Amino acid sequence: MSQASDSRPPPRTVAGSESSTPRGICSLSMIKRARLKVTRQKERESIRGKGKENRPTLPKVLVTGGAGFIGSHVADYFLDKGYEVQIVDDLSTGKRGNVPKKAQFHEISVTSNEFAQLVRERKFDVIAHLASQMDVRKSVADPVNDATINILGTLNLMEAVRASRAGTRVVFTSTGGALYGDFNKPPNLETYPKDPESPYAISKLSIELYLAYYGRVHGLDAIALRFGNVYGPRQDPHGEAGVVAIFCGRILNNRPLTVFGDGLQTRDYVYVGDVARATWIAATGPMPEKGRLDARAFNIGTGVGTSVVDIARKLQRAAGSDVPVEFAPHRPGEQQESFVNIDKAKAGLGWTPEVSLEEGLATTYQWFAQRMSGAVA
Ligand SMILES: NC(=O)c1ccc[n+]([C@@H]2O[C@H](COP(=O)([O-])OP(=O)(O)OC[C@H]3O[C@@H](n4cnc5c(N)ncnc54)[C@H](O)[C@@H]3O)[C@@H](O)[C@H]2O)c1
Repeated sequence: MSQASDSRPPPRTVAGSESSTPRGICSLSMIKRARLKVTRQKERESIRGKGKENRPTLPKVLVTGGAGFIGSHVADYFLDKGYEVQIVDDLSTGKRGNVPKKAQFHEISVTSNEFAQLVRERKFDVIAHLASQMDVRKSVADPVNDATINILGTLNLMEAVRASRAGTRVVFTSTGGALYGDFNKPPNLETYPKDPESPYAISKLSIELYLAYYGRVHGLDAIALRFGNVYGPRQDPHGEAGVVAIFCGRILNNRPLTVFGDGLQTRDYVYVGDVARATWIAATGPMPEKGRLDARAFNIGTGVGTSVVDIARKLQRAAGSDVPVEFAPHRPGEQQESFVNIDKAKAGLGWTPEVSLEEGLATTYQWFAQRMSGAVA
């Protein structure tokens, strides 16, 4: 089994972070963080080299939304790093089959009292919070439901973390697309103004504001990762973010690839394995200083905008397919250009994407082909 410290970047100061404590003065939160670091180090050491007679206590992570596309990869990553993994998911869009066998599964909603009790009592080292209503169109149709799951669900989580007094670190999955809206010229920097156009993106921004508040006022540790368009095995072809999954399905069924408008709209396509690794680094690396809204937020993408037409052509090549690309009318309200600047994640987390688009698309296509043939669940 690989160990938690194997491939971790050396501790470093996060670029662009703001310190509220003058040099040389130790605040209470600094002391708490130092203690927590020692505890975590001991826990990691306890994983190494212990005999059966003295079983180690594994560090514990809770992955909310762990039966979903990205959450299941995050759960796999933490298991691989030697963590005890627990998963909370209400299976509203996730699948029981995505839950790794070694993980403990709780089929409950993040809005429930049972969930709050679990967080209070189990005192997790890390909570990777991915459970979300994440369909932009559904958020427009029913903003109350969107806010209930996304905003109130996260408040339920943060209040339970606060009550647990366990020093839990929360890694929240925000969005690097819809959050910035259409007013900036990409690549979007974390500090750019945010003008979200959908209730979904408004809920993500609201949650980030709450997390900054919990950091400043209650001293809680929460990092927001703003993902680009994540793609890879297990993605469900729902929502705009699912274009790679949709195209894979169409190629396998020998149907044309439908592109809306001129197909030149760009997105930042990032492979799910890179995103899972970013989540783990954010959960175990040095905690950025608390500060204003963006102080503990990181864009996680490739820094490159790729057009939908390009994705279609690259997938055709990866699949060796010649299904036609057909054009349909432009969809109103669709963002034209969206990709992120990832310099802060490189400097502050020591993270950089490792899987090229060609490689990631080929792996993804192969997975969908295997699933169709029944080779994977
Ligand atoms: N897919 C992307 O490109 C992308 C981009 C930016 C951000 N994100 C964020 O990443 C996270 C995961 O997205 P995904 O693509 O894996 O989607 P997904 O739908 O596969 O995963 C979301 C999971 O949350 C679960 N869930 C929903 N409501 C819940 C509730 N009330 N209680 C418990 N579980 C609940 C679902 O059952 C599902 O398993 C989301 O927060 C999403 O907003 C995704």
